[in-house]
Amino acid sequence: MFGHKHFLGLENFPREDIQKIIDTAFEFKDVLNRPIKKVPSLQGVTIVNLFFENSTRTRISFELAQKRLSADTVNFSASTSSLKKGESFKDTAQNIEAMKIDAVVMRHPAPGSSKHLTEFIDAKVVNAGDGTHEHPTQAILDMMSIQEKFGKIKDLNIAIIGDINHSRVARSNIYGLISMGANVTVCGPANLIPENISNLGVKVNYNIDEVIEWADAVNILRIQRERMGIGLVPSNREYRRLFGVTSERINRRKKELVIMHPGPINRGVEIDSQVADSDQAIILDQVLNGVASRMSILYLLLGHKEESTNEG
Ligand code: CP
Repeated sequence: MFGHKHFLGLENFPREDIQKIIDTAFEFKDVLNRPIKKVPSLQGVTIVNLFFENSTRTRISFELAQKRLSADTVNFSASTSSLKKGESFKDTAQNIEAMKIDAVVMRHPAPGSSKHLTEFIDAKVVNAGDGTHEHPTQAILDMMSIQEKFGKIKDLNIAIIGDINHSRVARSNIYGLISMGANVTVCGPANLIPENISNLGVKVNYNIDEVIEWADAVNILRIQRERMGIGLVPSNREYRRLFGVTSERINRRKKELVIMHPGPINRGVEIDSQVADSDQAIILDQVLNGVASRMSILYLLLGHKEESTNEG
């Protein structure tokens, strides 16, 4: 039983349901390793991918996940839609639903837009990133990758480094990792770390060398220049000097450190190329796990006939 109608975020999302998504994702990863990477689980189900913002990984992996589950999929791009002629978000959503669809996967620049969408349509909604709010499917694939690497999540030391303030990936990871019993430290420029972040159960450390020494894994974020005003970060060179995960910093550490990045990467800024391409990096494993995780979420939401009891 998976009692959720939608998948909007990991805030207050039950730990056992996170584990169920991860466990189911591992089962689907086995499917992805077969010569024929397809199962009939969502035959007859129609899903619309509604992307109002750029995406490479999330968009392609959702579409692949849908095809691997035998769902019918339609891709919507805001830039070529009637939104350009002045149609509202609500009218767009209701017109799409009128075509008898079962679910919408949406990326949108406005925080809370996925929840807002659930007020307009009856179809199931999956949040593929809503502004600076949450990116819950990314956090699931990150946690799956951590579990795959270490065999567990509980009691691990996980650092999230970078622009925490503007990062939906950071927020969803924090909710998920704390719920799963990991120790989480955030690190980055003071003006890019929310003031009350410790209320979420994380520690703050501005010294990246200490954080790299402490962590079992680091999840490295890019500076989100499209979401911030001018002048929050002086220069790429300065950012790299103070908070970059550089080869020198990694080489100083004696033990192995698992390197994660949700992408897209800005090489030479928040991460050096040698680090991103090293054996310690699981960045491309995260990408593959993204397909399995999204198969799991879609299957749990749409592949069961039981009534959903929970809106979250
Ligand atoms: N990690 C992530 O969300 O990447 P995209 O923006 O390419 O989807």
